[in-house]
Amino acid sequence: MKVFLDTGDVKEVEKAAEWGLLDGVTTNPSLIAKSGRRFRETVLEICGLVPEGAISAEVVATDYEGVLKEAHEIASWNPQIVVKVPLIPEGVRAIRTLSQEGIRTNCTLVFSLPQALLAAKAGAAFISNFVGRVDDVGGDGMEAVADTVDMIEQYSFNSEVLVASVRHPKHVVEALQVGAHICTMPFKVMNQLFNHPLTDAGLKRFLDDWNEAGLEIFEKARV
Ligand code: E4P
Repeated sequence: MKVFLDTGDVKEVEKAAEWGLLDGVTTNPSLIAKSGRRFRETVLEICGLVPEGAISAEVVATDYEGVLKEAHEIASWNPQIVVKVPLIPEGVRAIRTLSQEGIRTNCTLVFSLPQALLAAKAGAAFISNFVGRVDDVGGDGMEAVADTVDMIEQYSFNSEVLVASVRHPKHVVEALQVGAHICTMPFKVMNQLFNHPLTDAGLKRFLDDWNEAGLEIFEKARV
């Protein structure tokens, strides 16, 4: 499963990129607005920090011509960019055109299997299935992800299922269990993936034992 960071904060991308684990970054208009910086410069800086990665940047138009115009502009900034388009009729129509033009799209705000079918048929490279927002209102967001993964396999669609709106490490575990292709997560969740109390306790014991025994890796030459 590919691991993406869900952020508009360049500092977070920098840190996660240092770990060498990043396959891509997803942004959205809210995350870019929160960063307090300009859209283009932020997206391009992220591209530079994750040179091999797929970087999603979203349109804000909601009519077909407007989506296409913005998508062409955004896609022209860098070949790494995947244009994010919302799952609305005009958006799906634009995804179809963009896919025929060879422009990769990430169909966003997908919550159900029928919506995922439309995105896949339109030729979206990624289908962003939001889980946390469904869980927030008492549903099970991962159900649609599992169904979408099955649909993609059964009908050999080319789209990749991207688990979005991730709130905690359990969502990442569930994304793996249902066979999602990509999981995008906030920096906080990516950090939490490292954590296990037995890792901390185990490391402490190894170091205490080592130091108590007075051992060294780089031994001084004997005279
Ligand atoms: C998807 O790519 C979105 O940017 C994101 O995952 C939305 O998450 P939220 O529900 O935490 O806003």
